Amino acid sequence: MKTYRLQAVILAALLAGCAAEPDAASDYVLVADMQELMYHVVDPAADVYWSAGGVIVDAEGEHFQIPESDEEWEALSNAAMTLAESGNLMLMEERAPDREAWVTFTHQFIEISRQALEAADARNLEAVFDTGAEVYYVCTNCHAVYAIETLRPTDARAN
Ligand code: HEC
Repeated sequence: MKTYRLQAVILAALLAGCAAEPDAASDYVLVADMQELMYHVVDPAADVYWSAGGVIVDAEGEHFQIPESDEEWEALSNAAMTLAESGNLMLMEERAPDREAWVTFTHQFIEISRQALEAADARNLEAVFDTGAEVYYVCTNCHAVYAIETLRPTDARAN
């Protein structure tokens, strides 16, 4: 009973604190900063997605790496889902540099990643190529504004 009362007092204090301070920190526990999120989550997932249809050169010559097994198609869907949800990680208030262009770019990113997921789920290789190219375009559109140093020097948007 005593414990219960103590909890009630603490809860009341916390609620009072919230009311007084509407911008109180969220419950999120951030692990990656934006650079780490890109390096450890977004870029590896994009590489998996883009690897479908990549040209592999090995001892037997040059051949396309086309997903064949259930596992390979599943890996593409997993990658596309990781991309789509990582858009939400970029949108978190603690990470987003602004609530304007950044929000537009992340929404475009989530939308195209969802289309990439649909293409992978449908096992439609042509749609995987096409949406993969569009994913790349959305990555670099955001970089052109927020991380220009990551663009290839040959990219017109880098200049
Ligand atoms: C909404 C904006 C946005 C989108 C969309 C976005 N990025 Fe980034 N990206 C950034 C920012 C900002 C940085 C710079 C982070 C820093 O160094 O502080 C960055 C940096 C990077 C880096 C460099 C990381 C390093 O180790 O320095 C890579 C690689 C990268 N992004 C890959 C991607 C790929 C691949 C995609 C698409 C699949 C993508 N990004 C989509 C904003 C974005």
